[in-house]
Amino acid sequence: MYQPAISGHGVFTPAQSISNDELVEAFNAYAEGWNARNAEKIAAGEVEAKTPSSADFIFSASGIERRFVMDKSGVLDPDRMYPALPARPDDQPGIMAEMAQEACTRALEMAGRTGADIDLIICAASNHERAYPAVAIEIQQLLGAQGFAFDMNVACSSATFGIQAAGDMIRAGSARRALVVCPEICSAHLEWRDRDCHFIFGDVCTALVLERAEEAQGARWDVVSTRCATQFSNNIRNNDGFLRRTHDQMEDRRDMQFMQNGRKVFKEVLPMVSAHILGHLGEEGWQADDLKRLWLHQANKTMNDFIGKKVLGREPEAGEQPNILQDYANTSSAGSIIAFSQNSADLAPGDRGVICSFGAGYSVGSVLVQRA
Ligand code: COA
Repeated sequence: MYQPAISGHGVFTPAQSISNDELVEAFNAYAEGWNARNAEKIAAGEVEAKTPSSADFIFSASGIERRFVMDKSGVLDPDRMYPALPARPDDQPGIMAEMAQEACTRALEMAGRTGADIDLIICAASNHERAYPAVAIEIQQLLGAQGFAFDMNVACSSATFGIQAAGDMIRAGSARRALVVCPEICSAHLEWRDRDCHFIFGDVCTALVLERAEEAQGARWDVVSTRCATQFSNNIRNNDGFLRRTHDQMEDRRDMQFMQNGRKVFKEVLPMVSAHILGHLGEEGWQADDLKRLWLHQANKTMNDFIGKKVLGREPEAGEQPNILQDYANTSSAGSIIAFSQNSADLAPGDRGVICSFGAGYSVGSVLVQRA
């Protein structure tokens, strides 16, 4: 068995961002227009008027201040309210592969590797832009990588499940050097016309290089152990899929975008995640006090504060549990990896930490790492 290690990380951040104020202005213009168009039905009590959103609510309920997106103009157009990302011809790189190429190039540079050194690519994301061929295989071609590549989807937990899959293959020897890539275009599955959730998501792509610890050329994080768990729930759900046409459901339907019962998710996922991390630490004989850092899924500040407190048994100190959601919002599977990428360089050899992602499924994945 070989010891797997993370030897490189990279983040692609889209050029455009949307502040809460800009978002709320667009939503409120959309809501006003909708109410005007439906004034008679509203007056007759047939439909409910849309209520305005508020930047103060968004910040206090989530901690989010802005989000990056692949297309801002479509999202902020009150007559459209979703990104405009024109379809590309089949002989041009897809948008996810293009985002991935930039994140992977950064991760490879850090690891002192090129695409040709890679023999496994896992494209782990909440949504893939087409059914097949796998986006991962397109990334493999763009990078000139060897071996094999595949897509996987465990929603917000895709990154940690991907690390476990790649780490186990490196341990066993079926792969030697891997990229776990998370291109998330959350703006395309978010319902920007629903004020309960229109502020939640943003776009980004992260990439990690994993290889045998003994072969890593620079700084590395040993993947000491991984643990994944799932438990079925309908509280975060998206019904879009390839059977849509067969159900005669091609019309604009609310359930074809992200839906959640936010309060229930909060109440049910928090205990699941804290117990999962504590159980994983216990299995490895680690104490919570051994953790120098927690890189958590980035959905909600209050949620992360709660998990940090529960796991550590005290209030987390500044920097112990870094959040990036104020700048990126929830970027699904990529969030904990952005936090790791931006907040791990300062740790010393021997320092330990946990990367943990959680979300739809429900699903939760934790990765115990130690700086070598
Ligand atoms: N602007 C102003 N008010 C809003 C609003 C908005 N954009 N959206 C909702 N509200 C109102 C609601 O109507 C409600 O009003 P009421 O008390 O008069 O009924 C009030 O604010 C509270 O709404 P609620 O939806 O209960 O807010 P919340 O405190 O639960 O926060 C989330 C909402 C989504 C931030 C929170 O539930 C959450 O983060 N859940 C975790 C799940 C998650 O992030 N999942 C993502 C996938 S991993």
